[in-house]
Amino acid sequence: MRFWSRMLLSLILVCAVALLSAQQKKEPEKLVFNTKFGNVTFLHAKHAERVNGDCKVCHDKLWPQDAKAPLNFKEGMHKPAEAKKISCAFCHVAGGKSFASMGNCNKCHAKPGAKS
Ligand code: HEC
Ligand code: HEC
Ligand code: HEC
Repeated sequence: MRFWSRMLLSLILVCAVALLSAQQKKEPEKLVFNTKFGNVTFLHAKHAERVNGDCKVCHDKLWPQDAKAPLNFKEGMHKPAEAKKISCAFCHVAGGKSFASMGNCNKCHAKPGAKS
């Protein structure tokens, strides 16, 4: 009896692991975030390359590996994010690794648009 319940348990475990790995998402080349201010194309592969492939810089500290999860960089969140150095503003902030939002809207947003 004990033997069979153990067998069953390991069988369930094997199935669960197989299912989980099948559901693992592929690392994206790029992600497009649709906004009414102009779509933002995030070059995922290029960004990963810039940190020498160290996924931990962004995952899961800034975002989970899920393109449907909130970015926390919506309208009105650029400045608060910069203040806290979170989301894209972990790097895209004055004095950071890359350009800040202010004056650089069209480096991220497809349509050149309003100032902040
Ligand atoms: C580092 C890249 C980057 C820069 C620079 C940037 N944005 Fe954004 N912006 C984004 C991303 C990414 C989103 C989508 C966020 C989300 O989906 O949570 C966004 C969303 C927005 C939205 C929300 C639109 C909607 O559909 O709700 C507005 C408005 C906006 N940005 C305005 C601006 C303005 C104005 C500037 C310049 C002062 C600017 N952004 C600079 C990346 C950027
Ligand atoms: C510079 C930051 C950054 C780095 C580094 C990074 N990612 Fe991502 N990744 C993102 C962002 C942003 C998203 C979208 C998150 C969201 O929409 O909330 C994402 C999403 C993903 C997704 C989900 C794709 C989907 O279709 O749902 C996977 C898988 C992923 N990343 C894998 C990786 C792997 C593997 C590495 C390391 C080789 C890596 N990422 C490095 C920023 C990064
Ligand atoms: C780990 C730091 C880091 C994070 C986090 C990060 N970026 Fe960047 N990003 C960079 C660097 C470095 C560059 C190169 C910029 C330069 O040459 O000034 C860059 C460049 C860009 C560019 C110009 C196109 C390109 O890739 O060369 C866009 C657009 C951009 N980032 C959008 C985003 C958006 C949107 C987010 C959030 C979803 C984000 N970045 C998060 C570091 C980062």
